[in-house]
This record gives sequence, C-alpha cells and structure tokens, in this order.
Amino acid sequence: MASMATPVSRAAAARVLWRPLGAEDVETVAALEARIHAAPWTAGNFHDALRAGYAARVGLRDGCIVAYGVLMLGPGEAQLLNLSVVPEARREGLGRALLAQFIETAEHFAAEQMFLEVRVGNVPAITLYEREGFVGVARRESYYPPSPEGEREDALVMRCALGRLRRVIHAVAGGGDGGSAAD
Ligand SMILES: CC(C)(COP(=O)(O)OP(=O)(O)OC[C@H]1O[C@@H](n2cnc3c(N)ncnc32)[C@H](O)[C@@H]1OP(=O)(O)O)[C@@H](O)C(=O)NCCC(=O)NCCS
Repeated sequence: MASMATPVSRAAAARVLWRPLGAEDVETVAALEARIHAAPWTAGNFHDALRAGYAARVGLRDGCIVAYGVLMLGPGEAQLLNLSVVPEARREGLGRALLAQFIETAEHFAAEQMFLEVRVGNVPAITLYEREGFVGVARRESYYPPSPEGEREDALVMRCALGRLRRVIHAVAGGGDGGSAAD
C-alpha cells in the first residue's frame, strides 16, 4: 500500500499549482466534470458544496484546471466526494497528490477515518485508493444511475484509517519512517 510515485510523476505533479476551488471555478469544473463522469456533478452541486463549507481544491497547469476534488468533513471522519483528473493529465501523479492533500486536511481536522464510494469497475481509481491505504468495506448494489445501456453499476465503499493508525499501517507495510503514505 505504500506510495511508489516515480520521479517523473513527482516532477509532473510539482508543475501543478494547487489552491482551493472557488465560485469562479465552478463553470469550468462543471464542464470538465461532464467530460469525465457518466453521472456528473452539476454547477449547482459544486456551488452547494462550497456553500456547505466542504474542502474543495483545484490543480492548475499553465493556468488551466487539470484536477479537482471535494472532501466533506464530519465529526471524526471525512468523505471523499469527488476526485478527478482531466484525461490529458492522467498517470502523472496528480490524483495521488490531490488525495494526499485531502488526507492531510482530514487529519488536520482530527478525522480518524476517510470513506469514499467508487464504481466497482473503476480500476484506475480503485488501484489508486488501494495503494494509498483504502480498503473495501461494503458494496452498494445498483447504486449508480443507469448508463445509456440501462445498466446500474454497484458502488464499492472504501475506508482508510487516518492519523496515528495510518502511520502505523504504513510503517508496517514497509513505508519506512512512518510518514504520509501519499507523499
Ligand atoms: C482515478 C484518477 C483520479 C487517477 O488520477 P491520476 O492522476 O491518473 O492517478 P495517478 O497518476 O496519481 O496514479 C496514482 C496510482 O493510481 C494507480 N492508477 C492510476 N491510473 C491507473 C490506471 N489507468 N490503471 C491502473 N492503475 C492506475 C496506479 O497505482 C498509480 O500509480 P503509478 O502511476 O505509480 O503506477 C483518474 O483516473 C480520474 O480522474 N478518473 C476519472 C474520474 C474518477 O473515476 N474519479 C474517481 C471517482 S471515485
């Protein structure tokens, strides 16, 4: 589960400027969302998330948004609601970098665990989450809206321990100094 980012992906991730997602980003992010997801969030969903005070971030390269995500913080736990990288910038470490930022935020607010839901067929995302310490804990049948073919996909619920427990697990898994698995 220890993160194994290559030097190339680290360099690519470093060329991205990360900052909070603001209301001025919503139209752009909603347009990207429609390209990326089968059941996309609308601009209204992003505005609602901002109004609710969720942690939301964007990554920019050359002034263009290439990654974004939304994290909901609750008492003792966090829920990753959205994590997206534009197709042109994938496999460069940006998804991992953004996830690491959200884990840091959740730990800053003393969350002890993070949950997320992902389509059971989403191999890239599940691989990323598993490598960063998430474990599947439940399956929600026919959770997602039907595809154009009329099929509803199941959701895999994944959980990751945060804080001290995460560092212990990382160290036991061979992460060495017990630092963040997503560095
Ligand atoms: C899932 C997603 C965010 C990953 O972002 P990314 O920037 O491409 O991922 P990274 O480059 O940080 O990859 C980190 C690790 O994830 C795994 N991974 C990423 N893409 C993968 C793929 N296509 N196949 C297998 N493993 C993959 C690898 O372990 C990778 O590490 P490595 O490159 O050192 O082998 C991106 O594919 C995406 O936006 N998908 C569409 C939206 C989505 O499904 N979001 C998740 C919803 S829950």
